[in-house]
Amino acid sequence: MKQTHKVKIVDNVEISPGIYKIDLLFKEIVESAKAGQFVNMYTNSSGSLLPRPISISQINKEKNVLTIVYAVVGKGTKALSEMKIGDEVKVLGPLGNGFNIPKEAENHIVIGGGIGAPPLVELVKQLKGNIEVYLGFRSNPILIEEFKEYGAKVYVATEDGSVGIKGNVRDILKEKNLKADMIYSCGPKPMLKAIAKYATENGIKAQVSMEERMACGIGACVGCTCKTKKKEEVQNKKVCKDGPVFYSEEVVWND
Ligand SMILES: Cc1cc2nc3c(=O)[nH]c(=O)nc-3n(C[C@H](O)[C@H](O)[C@H](O)COP(=O)(O)OP(=O)(O)OC[C@H]3O[C@@H](n4cnc5c(N)ncnc54)[C@H](O)[C@@H]3O)c2cc1C
Ligand code: FES
Repeated sequence: MKQTHKVKIVDNVEISPGIYKIDLLFKEIVESAKAGQFVNMYTNSSGSLLPRPISISQINKEKNVLTIVYAVVGKGTKALSEMKIGDEVKVLGPLGNGFNIPKEAENHIVIGGGIGAPPLVELVKQLKGNIEVYLGFRSNPILIEEFKEYGAKVYVATEDGSVGIKGNVRDILKEKNLKADMIYSCGPKPMLKAIAKYATENGIKAQVSMEERMACGIGACVGCTCKTKKKEEVQNKKVCKDGPVFYSEEVVWND
């Protein structure tokens, strides 16, 4: 049974224009949380009773701190950005399934687009072997140093060309002949779809973290379905409970 906890904010800082990093003192879940899972944040904003799903970006078991990184896009995230150190926020989690890290995998490709990059930091921290991280942003890349600190080779693309190559992750994919045992990815759906195609064409397994509008976050409201297939059978799965991470070959990409 998932529980809601009141947790203390120990840091909440703007790391790039409109992007915040919040540290939560969250002893109750640091041991069980997995890379790729998310939490539901009750942000106290007027008119928004529904919680906001945000991915776990880092888990610090020594300090009992969970870090999340979020973009201010509307009322809920604006209210979150205005909360101060010492304030308490209601959080439900950890939710969803997280990334699967196969023991035998040695060569990992990690691909993030925009605000899809944060959950990949904890993943990279836990990967062993050769790790290449490919990140795409409109401008103002985030978290590059964190990925490097955990031993990854990092390649960046920005749409305005201010950092790295000019373009997006799909442009990097076109140029590179990637070799890996596993691709892990999070970002906008068109990017994930392109990665799924690339993975199939190149015989590489890929995991994609899907994003859908959510309400309950625990599989109760059927508000977040995505079409998946098993052999020829198409079924609706709940992104919040069965995902958000799926193997790319499971997802029906045409809708
Ligand atoms: C599993 C999951 C993990 C997520 N992880 C992160 C994360 O790590 N960092 C982060 O910044 N955001 C993340 N998001 C997106 C985040 O939940 C929304 O940005 C947030 O709920 C917006 O709340 P709001 O009240 O500020 O905006 P609202 O006022 O609710 O909406 C503002 C705008 O954002 C759009 N929007 C809101 N939610 C979503 C959504 N889920 N998908 C697409 N568009 C949306 C709305 O259509 C509207 O245009 C995640 C979403 C999911 C489902
Ligand atoms: S958000 Fe309610 S079922 Fe997924």
